[in-house]
Amino acid sequence: MIDVTNSKYVARVMHPRPVAVLISISSKGLVNGCTVAWFTPVNVSPFIYAVSLSYRRLTYKYVKESQQATLNIIPYAMLKEAHYVGSVSGEEVPDKLSKAGLELEYSEEFKVPHIKGVPAYVESVLKDELRYEDHALLTFQATKVFVDESIFKERFYDEKANILLHVGGDIYAYGYKYVTIH
Ligand SMILES: Cc1cc2nc3c(=O)[nH]c(=O)nc-3n(C[C@H](O)[C@H](O)[C@H](O)COP(=O)(O)O)c2cc1C
Repeated sequence: MIDVTNSKYVARVMHPRPVAVLISISSKGLVNGCTVAWFTPVNVSPFIYAVSLSYRRLTYKYVKESQQATLNIIPYAMLKEAHYVGSVSGEEVPDKLSKAGLELEYSEEFKVPHIKGVPAYVESVLKDELRYEDHALLTFQATKVFVDESIFKERFYDEKANILLHVGGDIYAYGYKYVTIH
């Protein structure tokens, strides 16, 4: 074994991880998206999840302003779009979501839009922030969680949902096989 404690890639020992796009809105109503792999469920009832966000992300600023976001789970079919959204900042490309070819949908009750055609999305409000050196762990409480019922059947995603996984850098994974243990 070799020691990678001080490697800039140390967190990759905890990949592959599912990919999502966190959509946020500024106090002026500007919408932006940020691809994230560092997110995790935290609590079931109420449903709370956490996202680790760098302070440098425009998304961090927008979330702090509006206290709201949607987390959109990304399938393999949206690999190119999600990679683009995670490669340029909304600071330089304010309309990066439409440039990526992602279509947004608005719900009547929630200010922040979600991505059309994703297997699931979570409308959520900011709850807490734990601040570290380069990232903040933001916890969000879900106000609504929506799934495509043709691929999330009661308890979990069908294999055909093909949720995208991030390995690191420009490497992703998909197409895994499910097994049932008896
Ligand atoms: C697959 C993938 C996963 C990423 N995961 C995270 C993450 O969990 N947290 C984070 O702060 N940035 C993450 N990033 C980087 C941001 O998505 C990227 O810096 C983005 O351009 C920020 O956009 P913004 O400045 O418009 O918010 C990831 C990028 C990719 C491609």
